[in-house]
Amino acid sequence: MRNLDEHTITQAVLTRNASAPDPRLREIMTSLVQHLHAFARETKLTEAEWEKGIEFLTAVGQICTPTRQEFILLSDTLGLSTLVTAQNHKKPEGCTEATVFGPFHVLDAPRFDLGADISAGLPGVPWFVRGTVRDIDGNPVPNATLEVWQADDAGFYDVQKAGRAANSFEGRAILQADSEGRYHFKTIIPDCYPIPHDGPVGKMLEALERHPWRPAHLHFMIISPNHERLVTHVFREHGEYLDSDAVFGVRSSLIADWVAHDAGTDPYGQAIDTPWFSLDFDFVLNPIAR
Ligand code: BEZ
Ligand code: FE
Repeated sequence: MRNLDEHTITQAVLTRNASAPDPRLREIMTSLVQHLHAFARETKLTEAEWEKGIEFLTAVGQICTPTRQEFILLSDTLGLSTLVTAQNHKKPEGCTEATVFGPFHVLDAPRFDLGADISAGLPGVPWFVRGTVRDIDGNPVPNATLEVWQADDAGFYDVQKAGRAANSFEGRAILQADSEGRYHFKTIIPDCYPIPHDGPVGKMLEALERHPWRPAHLHFMIISPNHERLVTHVFREHGEYLDSDAVFGVRSSLIADWVAHDAGTDPYGQAIDTPWFSLDFDFVLNPIAR
């Protein structure tokens, strides 16, 4: 293949890739090449602009560390994460909706018993969270594993904090629901937060005159045999940024009342001398089709 020009280059690349043995890889690469070339044609992309694009992608890669995943931020802020989540989790009516995973989950979160305080001493307004994991028929799903993670009351995750020891965790836990599907734990109210915006994705948002903020939320990942894994959040009703989430993750069905209470007695019957909040939220898992 010689003398390729703007009209013949796309087919030349497709032909070169056509002998890839993995059919799915072939399909994905064919589509990717077609769309990338169409994008360059449609925008009449200049060399200087593509050089900037490569500089940007290089910076996205260079800022990545085990706790800073700029490519996830890029995918999230471009809406690609929400698109991929939505098209892979079409569920029967009544199932809890999934939303973006985000970059702040860790694999080695600590395990806690039900009822534990998972905040690890974070300052903030006490929050008592509970609910039941159910199946699509409304029956409790026993013994599901729930992973929970959250920002603190200033909007930071533990992994974002400088000087943190690798094995010290705040506001994250792995819990097991009981035989009746019930889960409950204590923590603190998380605040809204900006996604990390001191890198290339932040610069991109700035150039687009977009803000980096996410509405306050609590992350859950729920795993149970015979059910689809659920990755989701619970958002705070009437919270800020619900209609302009930087990563397009809000779904109405995931917004709940975080109920305020006066000092007095907490849900465990203990005296509490400050105001506190509670959240009741049930999850409905999608059965795996057999
Ligand atoms: C999060 O909710 O933790 C998150 C999601 C997407 C980008 C940044 C943070
Ligand atoms: Fe989050």
